[in-house]
Amino acid sequence: MKFATKLIHNGHACDPATGALSVPICQASTFRQESAEEFGKYDYTRSGNPTREALEDAVAQMENGAHAYAFASGMAAISSALLLFSPGDHIVVCEDVYGGTYRVLTSLFSRLGIASSFVDATDLDALAAAIRPETKALFLETPSNPLMKITDLKGAAELARSRGLLTIVDNTFMTPYLQRPLDLGCDIVLHSGTKFLNGHSDVLCGFAVTKDQTLGKRLRFVQNAFGAVLGPQDSWLVLRGLKTLKVRMEESQKGAGRIAAWLTGQKRVTRVCYPGLADHPGHEVHAAQSAGPGAVLSFTLESYELTRRLLEGSELCAFAVSLGGVETIISYPARMSHAAVPKEEREKKGISDTLVRLSVGLEDPDDLIADLDKALNG
Ligand SMILES: Cc1ncc(COP(=O)(O)O)c(C=O)c1O
Repeated sequence: MKFATKLIHNGHACDPATGALSVPICQASTFRQESAEEFGKYDYTRSGNPTREALEDAVAQMENGAHAYAFASGMAAISSALLLFSPGDHIVVCEDVYGGTYRVLTSLFSRLGIASSFVDATDLDALAAAIRPETKALFLETPSNPLMKITDLKGAAELARSRGLLTIVDNTFMTPYLQRPLDLGCDIVLHSGTKFLNGHSDVLCGFAVTKDQTLGKRLRFVQNAFGAVLGPQDSWLVLRGLKTLKVRMEESQKGAGRIAAWLTGQKRVTRVCYPGLADHPGHEVHAAQSAGPGAVLSFTLESYELTRRLLEGSELCAFAVSLGGVETIISYPARMSHAAVPKEEREKKGISDTLVRLSVGLEDPDDLIADLDKALNG
């Protein structure tokens, strides 16, 4: 079956008990047991819940994984995956990783003795050079957030495997519709499902997905032991959102392509970062490892005054944190997603005070361009 068909016919299209064309919400924390010797499939919702399980199964299928685990947020999924590591371990991380990941690594996991180094992962030699004897994993995002830098996932996974490391990829921006890192040799895929997977700006959730049996068991252990699980109602909302993933991604991506091309012709826009543009330094690598450039882009403007005018003046683009919703969201990485990164670090990485990120929704691109034009040039 092709991807779009699998989104609908994934084994959960019809409830076998009632024929309902929607997975029932099993709003229970605990389950009655018949035997003192042997418990049934479900005993307590932290350990397993039928609605959450249907969602986990659907996401595992989408990523071509064998095991997926749903968490209460993207950060809960990321932090739970990082709990696979132990004091003394070291992780090599792409330098413009999501600010929350940077924060949890540098202020929480560092206290637990898990160290990390941040490097330009567009350069496989730089990744290799950052590996130490105690390194256990590469942690990557491609396209990265917010500069849309591209890492060669196959190359990185080969490097990691040759050194006995895991490759962990945050695939939030692409979704499995556009990019499937497990197929490229990576070991764990993480998501903020809050974004495109759910797609409606109404749920926080996260996923960790793997093909590997042993890693699957270890992630499941952390999910149950640490306990940052997704609730049944939210699981149901994400199941509903997933059904339209393909059409949402396709339409938003078309809009993003139009807007990126328009922005490149604007004299007050000094740089446009979008892997769909032929002059993007990662354009070819991205095209080879994904099915499209996605619906997020970032750009810099000629001054802070203009940046502020755009953020505050756009009528159709919601000035907000987050991305991946049906509505276009304009955000300001320096004060939002990357506020946790010290200013000096941020500027070194290119996350300047005139950088804006746009997550294109489902509005008509003509209206979005007219709105941006008015805010920038009006
Ligand atoms: C790439 C990426 N990863 C992870 C997260 C964290 O996800 P959540 O906000 O669902 O905890 C975000 C949130 O913006 C993100 O953009």
